[in-house]
Amino acid sequence: MAERIACLPGDGIGPEVMAEALRVLATLPVDVEVVELPFGGAAIDVSGEPLPPETLAACREAAAVLLGAVGGPRWEGRAVRPEGGLLELRQALDVYANLRPAVHGDVDVLVVRELVGGLYFGERGVRDDGTVFDTCEYHPSQVERVARRAFELAQARSRRLVSVDKANVLETSRLWRRVVSDLASEYPDVELRHALVDSFAIEVALTPETLDVVVTENMFGDILSDLASGVAGGLGLAASASLGDSGPGIFEPVHGSAPDIAGAGTANPAAMIRSLALALEHALGRRDLAEAVGAAVDHARLAAPTPDQGGAATTTEFGDAVLASLEHRLTTEERTWATTPS
Ligand code: NAD
Ligand code: IPM
Ligand code: MN
Repeated sequence: MAERIACLPGDGIGPEVMAEALRVLATLPVDVEVVELPFGGAAIDVSGEPLPPETLAACREAAAVLLGAVGGPRWEGRAVRPEGGLLELRQALDVYANLRPAVHGDVDVLVVRELVGGLYFGERGVRDDGTVFDTCEYHPSQVERVARRAFELAQARSRRLVSVDKANVLETSRLWRRVVSDLASEYPDVELRHALVDSFAIEVALTPETLDVVVTENMFGDILSDLASGVAGGLGLAASASLGDSGPGIFEPVHGSAPDIAGAGTANPAAMIRSLALALEHALGRRDLAEAVGAAVDHARLAAPTPDQGGAATTTEFGDAVLASLEHRLTTEERTWATTPS
């Protein structure tokens, strides 16, 4: 039976980069049914809410959620925001582990960002005197589950893990450090180091090639993953996978809706296509196809670079280059398969 993929193009360049990812998906030897759903600002425009119940229901039933990006000046300053729909979706699917790889030359960093806790989901409000507040909250179990994921990922890589916090100031960071430290004895093969987020940002900027797996809370992870993408070729290349313990994951670029270039047809679809590759690996168990798509993206980066990479290719031309490379790769693979004695 076909696996269902919920596709949420969203706003700005979201639909532009999603179109290329769907062209790539359509050429792959996988039995999938793609269902496109309104989300973000586009959904606010038609139904008044960024995550309509039908969209959430379809996501819950899907094998994976492919997401473009949401937001833009059009919906700023309103009570209902596109970004609210994204937070609601992440929380509803309980995708607490957000994997954000930054790979480029000798840089190979994996940021594991806690995605459904902390400052984004704590109590917030306005006091009588006009003070506005957001609160950062973490339960030990929320820290433990994402830290375990990071230790396991480190075990499968070069077995070095940096846990990033602000334990010299914040109670939640002291909890974070304690929980992560307590787990370390269960993963004796992983070398654990703690770092404070401010000085760690310098490490990401200046010596990213020394880093492997980084685990951190929601807000620090948001900022550090954009920074990591910056030292690994830019936001146009940075993909992510948001995973829970069961149920569908969300696969989306790290970048946003890029209102400054939306509609120009020049957005780099590499981050979105790499996010599709992460879905192939994590949701469909097709690491082989994920690798083929990844290699095709690397080829396209050289053959048809978009303006953010110093080239002049359009979004579609980049997609064409991925498809051309992929076609060759899949054919080669089939040929190898056909001539391999069973
Ligand atoms: P952004 O990531 O949209 O853009 C930052 C810069 O990077 C811009 O100059 C943009 O042109 C460039 N850029 C981003 N992706 C690119 C691509 N694929 N190809 C070429 N250039 C690219 O961040 P922003 O401008 O701070 O935010 C814009 C909107 O996006 C806001 O409304 C924000 O809330 C939203 N946002 C959404 C998501 C998401 O849906 N996951 C993520 C981040 C930001
Ligand atoms: C991201 C984005 C989102 C976040 C926003 C749009 C809610 O910046 O995915 O990195 O802060 O998580
Ligand atoms: Mn972000």
